[in-house]
Amino acid sequence: MPVSDQRYRPYVDHVRSVLSEHRFRHSMAVANMAGRLAIRYGVSEESAVKAGILHDVLKQMKMDDLLGQGIEIGSELREVWRQFPAVFHAFAAPLYLGQVLGVDDESVLDAVKWHTTGTANMGPVAKVLYVADFVGPDRDISGLDVIRELADRDLDEACLGISILVIKQLMLAQKEVHEETINCYHFYLGQMGPDSKKEIFLRVGAL
Ligand SMILES: [Fe+2]
Ligand SMILES: [Fe+2]
Repeated sequence: MPVSDQRYRPYVDHVRSVLSEHRFRHSMAVANMAGRLAIRYGVSEESAVKAGILHDVLKQMKMDDLLGQGIEIGSELREVWRQFPAVFHAFAAPLYLGQVLGVDDESVLDAVKWHTTGTANMGPVAKVLYVADFVGPDRDISGLDVIRELADRDLDEACLGISILVIKQLMLAQKEVHEETINCYHFYLGQMGPDSKKEIFLRVGAL
């Protein structure tokens, strides 16, 4: 298991100290899945595993906890906190990871930032994390088998499938959709040939 590698130890220990047992286990599952996908697609395994371990580091942290640690939350992030509280832990994490844990791998910071909304033209590590967070073994969402099949075949197809499913779920829950999620959807739709586009719409749209 990649996360048991000693080089990840400080990150694993930190995440364990700030997350519940359930969320900690989710993070380890995502890290292992990210490692597998990285190998499958020739992406840096180390960056992918690190991004997986760290992606939800702020999931249970409050704004006051961050301010108390001297992390400066600017007006843009405060707006995210207000309008999209579920996205805040992703957008604020690069700041925290840089300042508190000294993470300077841009591909890791980027991947963590976009793991919730996705965005247009994600880097390889960001795509791997976006997909791994969704298809990990600890997930139980209907239609996951279709997304897992896409993830096995092509990362861009999986990114499109996930963005369609996320937008659909948010609409059904009568929630706002973050503009980056829409950007993600448009970008990966544009990457598809007509056959893939049709197949993904038919299969994911029917979920
Ligand atoms: Fe998350
Ligand atoms: Fe997650």
